[in-house]
Amino acid sequence: MARGFAAIRDNPLGFLEDTRRRYGALVAFPVPRTTALLVSDPADVRRVLQSGARTWTKATVQYAALARVTGPGLLAVADDRWLPRRRAAQPAFHHARLDAVSESIRSAAGRVVGEWRSLSADGAVLDVDALAMRVTLDVIGRTLFDEDLAEVTDALVHATDEAAELVVAQGRQVVPLPSWVPTPVNRRLRRAVRDLDRICREVIARRRLRGVGASHHDLLGLLLAAGLPDDAVRDELVTMVVAGHETVASALTWTLMLLAEQPGHQDRLRAEVRATGDVPALQLRRELPWTRAVVDESLRLFPPGWVVSRRAMAPDVLGDRAVPAGTIAIVSPWLLHRDPAAWPDPETFDPGRFDPGHPGSPVSGTATTTARADYLPFGLGPRLCIGRGFSLVELTVLLAELLRDHAVSLPQGWRRPEVDAFVTLRPRGGLRLRVTPCAPG
Ligand code: HEM
Repeated sequence: MARGFAAIRDNPLGFLEDTRRRYGALVAFPVPRTTALLVSDPADVRRVLQSGARTWTKATVQYAALARVTGPGLLAVADDRWLPRRRAAQPAFHHARLDAVSESIRSAAGRVVGEWRSLSADGAVLDVDALAMRVTLDVIGRTLFDEDLAEVTDALVHATDEAAELVVAQGRQVVPLPSWVPTPVNRRLRRAVRDLDRICREVIARRRLRGVGASHHDLLGLLLAAGLPDDAVRDELVTMVVAGHETVASALTWTLMLLAEQPGHQDRLRAEVRATGDVPALQLRRELPWTRAVVDESLRLFPPGWVVSRRAMAPDVLGDRAVPAGTIAIVSPWLLHRDPAAWPDPETFDPGRFDPGHPGSPVSGTATTTARADYLPFGLGPRLCIGRGFSLVELTVLLAELLRDHAVSLPQGWRRPEVDAFVTLRPRGGLRLRVTPCAPG
């Protein structure tokens, strides 16, 4: 464990892989004054993430940093405020809403495809990362905060993204300084959070002015109708943007890259989409099994939430090691998804692994993948992502709509971009692919 902090900061994914390879599935990290364990054995991962939100909590540096932006919103909250907030937000993510959500997603994709219609037969090389950020922003604004707030939502999203990046930048300072020290990063962060507060106050006030009737089924309306105080509503607005915008964008970007690298898999997806009309959200897995398998497999190779952490509130045992109260457990989906014991030939993009018809597939029939400790793009246990169903519909519908009449391919001189592990996994310098119209099927 010699290379310590600089290695974690400069190449966190490489550091995690190296640590796992050299020292095994349960290893102590070089963190001063704390026992911090990298936990990679599925049984231990299950113990940490499934043993109850009060046993292993989110009282960690990772979520404390996030809370500087989101406050004690649903993603970062580490105490008993979590359950009532989860209950208040849950109806906005109920599966009965997903059909309406998928209509908004189709419209958002339709606006992109409308722009692509002017491409010549040779197509054009475009930054699909920028495109993914734009289209997912459109979706979150329209689906969670109501259409006519779109302008304000843009400002909210941009301020949130900036603040989240600054938190990461701050976490990577060689000598992390307390938040009250007026460093340039701390000052920018404070300004971004002030902007966020102002924008949220405006959004909430405008919505209160319009009245919070029972007809409001979007997240903002539901939170206000649940009687949450404005501060708590503000925290959830920001949380949903932090948790639900860049994550989906990151997944879409890497999926498009993987499909450009594997045109055979992309052709099969297009053929499946063309053979099917608009599919109700709840039947996507059954009607578009290959497209959905592409999403599942892409989330295996590029899980946007690449690391999560917990703190033990009481002594516990992991493997055959007694761990004291206060121990930090670090769990990395990036690592678990590359464990050759669970995933043979782990670096290969093979959606067939998730094709329900495939023998040995981790999903079959109505079985879901939410119970596996070696596949957890959305986490595991009580703190499972509230946006899981929403995201899977979003990604499947976006891919279907974007690739129905257009193909993505690798431009000349292609080299895979480096993966930057910040809040999510992002391609360093963007991701440029050729987008070409395809003959109608
Ligand atoms: C929690 C990943 C999309 C909202 C989580 C967690 C992961 C995750 C790994 C668990 C964190 C932990 O256990 O420490 C993802 C990925 C997404 C995605 C990969 C997209 C591909 C979304 C969307 C929303 C959302 C679209 C909302 C609009 C949340 C919230 C939590 C959460 C609020 C905290 C839930 C709780 O603790 O009760 N997400 N997420 N996520 N996610 Fe997502």
